[in-house]
Amino acid sequence: MAKTRIQFICQSCGAVSPRWAGKCDACGGWNTLVEEGTGGIGAVPGGLRSPRKGRPVALTTLSGEIEDAPRIVSGIAELDRATGGGFVPGSALLVGGDPGIGKSTLLMQAAAALAHRGHRVVYVSGEEAVAQVRLRAQRLGAATAPVDLAAETNVEDILATLAEGRRPDLVILDSIQTLWTDLAESAPGTVTQVRAAAQAVIRYAKSSGAAVVLVGHVTKEGQIAGPRVVEHMVDAVLYFEGEGGHHFRILRAVKNRFGPTDEIGVFEMSDKGLREVSNPSELFLGERHAKAPGAAVFAGMEGTRPVLVEIQALVAPSPLGTPRRTVVGWDGARLAMVLAVLEAHCGVRFAQHDVYLNVAGGYRIAEPAADLAVAAALVSSLTGIALPADCVYFGEISLSGAVRPVAHAQQRLKEAEKLGFAQAVLPSGSEEITGGFGSASFLCATLADLVVRIAGSLRRHGGDD
Ligand code: TYD
Ligand code: MG
Repeated sequence: MAKTRIQFICQSCGAVSPRWAGKCDACGGWNTLVEEGTGGIGAVPGGLRSPRKGRPVALTTLSGEIEDAPRIVSGIAELDRATGGGFVPGSALLVGGDPGIGKSTLLMQAAAALAHRGHRVVYVSGEEAVAQVRLRAQRLGAATAPVDLAAETNVEDILATLAEGRRPDLVILDSIQTLWTDLAESAPGTVTQVRAAAQAVIRYAKSSGAAVVLVGHVTKEGQIAGPRVVEHMVDAVLYFEGEGGHHFRILRAVKNRFGPTDEIGVFEMSDKGLREVSNPSELFLGERHAKAPGAAVFAGMEGTRPVLVEIQALVAPSPLGTPRRTVVGWDGARLAMVLAVLEAHCGVRFAQHDVYLNVAGGYRIAEPAADLAVAAALVSSLTGIALPADCVYFGEISLSGAVRPVAHAQQRLKEAEKLGFAQAVLPSGSEEITGGFGSASFLCATLADLVVRIAGSLRRHGGDD
């Protein structure tokens, strides 16, 4: 009889430790170690099975017949865009997001759309009872769609159900945290269970050719709980995100074995479910005042994800001997540096002025790439010249006044383009730009170029008044 040892597994990163500790050594998370048996995945209770002799598989070459991955298109354009052209048969897709963001709503709408197109769709809810799911479907106007519905959490029962009848084209499992398999001994939601359940389901997808969608809740650190373990096992990972307190939702691909990962789908949550927003720029720019000086949009990156953030500056004459510098959401020392470079190399004087700098939406920017946007906002506020509303800025400023290229220029521009921006100010020497920004981008080599451009825009536009 195999001896059952106790081990502790970090629920955040999956690290295994022989004894309990308050802090995980691997990821530094507090209170994340949970006791789990060593049974692990696929372990046979009692360890009775003798090891099977391996069977050789046929080796092959890299070249040869390839079947282009066929796609199951939902007809919801923003969703199809994020998945890279539709669901891929035989693949597993993870949809992550905060609880309550709208994952179940989105997938119910997708299920209904696909069912109406004649695909067989099975929706397995582990979190809500059948009545609750029906209620939502009614609200979404999807109650008549021929979707097969079940409320079940046991993986073996789910797979047995799926094996009956016509092979489903799409299976939605909501959520991975509620699934459990007989093969693992731990409680549902633990790393061992989530990993084992996901593995079983992914194996089903590969062997049957059905597309499987797993729903995963994100923890407050922004990882998918039951966590990273699922992310690397699936073929594609989409995050569903909300933009601070708004009704807007962004579906973002962070991993995709069958398509690009720099696509986003934009939705708006309404009382009838998620509505596609095919031109987000209008909504996004609608909130901004085109003629307000002191605002510049920074095209930033958060890890591998591009984000657009508005930077606001207010430069006002100071009654104080030592003018005030106040920064929210950025580094104060960095602001002092940008001000010094503007004074020393561009002849822009701030010595008699208070400077307030704010990053909209409560964001915190850590990137030096924001320098150029900050400088643009400062010059705009000081001179009272509003910057073009459809322009984004990024680039690092060095002490010599040169503007240095930053990474991911292409990704920043792509996001800006998606959100309806038409112009960009970026460092000269940036990686080659393709796409719509080619002619409308202004490459500056030094900060003085930018100051001249902003001052020049007054002459161009203001001269007619
Ligand atoms: P839900 O899809 O249940 O979120 P998740 O599965 O990601 O946890 O959506 C939850 C929120 O969406 C809920 O707070 C109510 C809101 N909602 C609407 O505003 N309109 C609707 O038509 C629906 C179905 C939900
Ligand atoms: Mg849900």
